[in-house]
Amino acid sequence: MAPEFGPEFERGLRMMLDAIARAQRPGSSDLPAIDMAAELAKLTHLRGRPPFFDYLGSGIGQGARVRLADGRWILDFTLGIGVHLFGHGNLDLIETAIRAAAADVAMQGNLIFNSEYLGLMETLLAHAPRGIDRCWLSLSGADANENALKLLRQKRGGRPGVIAFRGCFHGRTGAMAEITDRPDYRMGQPSTFPVEYLPFYDRRDPSSAERTSRAMRGVIARGGDRIAAFVLELVQGEAGFRTAPREFFVPLFEQCRAAGIPVWVDEVQTFARVTELFAADLLNLAEYVDVITVGKTLQGSAMLYRHELAPDPGLISGTFSGATAAMAVGRRIVEKLTGENFFGPHGREKQLENLTRDHLAALSRRHPNQISEVDGIGAMISFRVGDASLNHTRAFIQRAFKEGLALYYGGRDPACVRLFLPAGVLTETELAQAFEIIERCL
Ligand SMILES: Cc1ncc(COP(=O)(O)O)c(C=O)c1O
Repeated sequence: MAPEFGPEFERGLRMMLDAIARAQRPGSSDLPAIDMAAELAKLTHLRGRPPFFDYLGSGIGQGARVRLADGRWILDFTLGIGVHLFGHGNLDLIETAIRAAAADVAMQGNLIFNSEYLGLMETLLAHAPRGIDRCWLSLSGADANENALKLLRQKRGGRPGVIAFRGCFHGRTGAMAEITDRPDYRMGQPSTFPVEYLPFYDRRDPSSAERTSRAMRGVIARGGDRIAAFVLELVQGEAGFRTAPREFFVPLFEQCRAAGIPVWVDEVQTFARVTELFAADLLNLAEYVDVITVGKTLQGSAMLYRHELAPDPGLISGTFSGATAAMAVGRRIVEKLTGENFFGPHGREKQLENLTRDHLAALSRRHPNQISEVDGIGAMISFRVGDASLNHTRAFIQRAFKEGLALYYGGRDPACVRLFLPAGVLTETELAQAFEIIERCL
């Protein structure tokens, strides 16, 4: 519950929301168009590295579109790498944020809590996979993952190692960079614990599931007693929205269960974007899962776990658990997603997935050899362009950005284009406009 400040506050809030709605109409904003190149040069100087796109937001957007600081409107299919499922300038979320921002503190942490903290946990757990009944809030996806790793190591008597998939991404803190299967992301960093990699599902190889299962047997036989957990993404995000069927995971989880190795599913990227709130529920795998970490669309992050795994005092804490406004917005997002027709085989995400696949199929008929390897699910769909080299893919994405569509890539050599669909707001007209740009840029 946000605090109540009476009728004057309510009147002021209505006026603010009306003003924001007026400013969102393209052409009606009296925001000055600024010299974005100069601002981005300053940003580059201060950060010490250039941004990927020439993107500086103006703070105004509507639905799938955002107004850049130079006045240009573009379609955004990156969503800050999967954060803004309800796009830009959503008035319901802005209202929620303003109400929460009027509370006494901007940030909440692990010593004193306001009601947004409890409300977010309750709402999240009300929709969590069966058996997952505890929650610990944190800021970034990597924070939630660090908490999960510490918790599971503690429960496993200090065993240090993890089993993970090739191509995985779990964040950029010291420990997460050691697990993430990108040696180029940990140049100059020490290796401090064992990470055993299994091959992820390969839909072109009929023996893929058996091969990975065999690899798991080998890892457990060789050194299962050094392993704290099996950590995995059910749909790989940074590797390029790679999917796998339930049958691929079950034998792996069965082996972990037999060996006493907890299963930790990293849903930081999949959360709310796979036609269900949780990929573990989509694939009907909840019974095997001990810990789930979520982030991004939640506007913060959380570790969800079974009550038997409650952390001992002192293991997990920190000054910040989230911003008051972000917690309120995260909760409202979960309420909207679960209260409206978003999920399930006939929900909005599935409809948008089907429409996107239709567009890609039509495009590949018109441009043979240009579009291949369509993968993903729901609001996360990927495809390869041309020879799928990293350079070619990045050049394609930069062309699309100049034409007014922000896209992002995944994987590397082969790389793919990832569509982070703003499924909460995306219209079919906007999707068609995005595909016109994609076709022009092929
Ligand atoms: C699967 C997965 N885990 C963890 C993370 C790290 O999240 P954050 O960048 O919020 O720390 C990401 C980020 O892309 C992710 O995709």
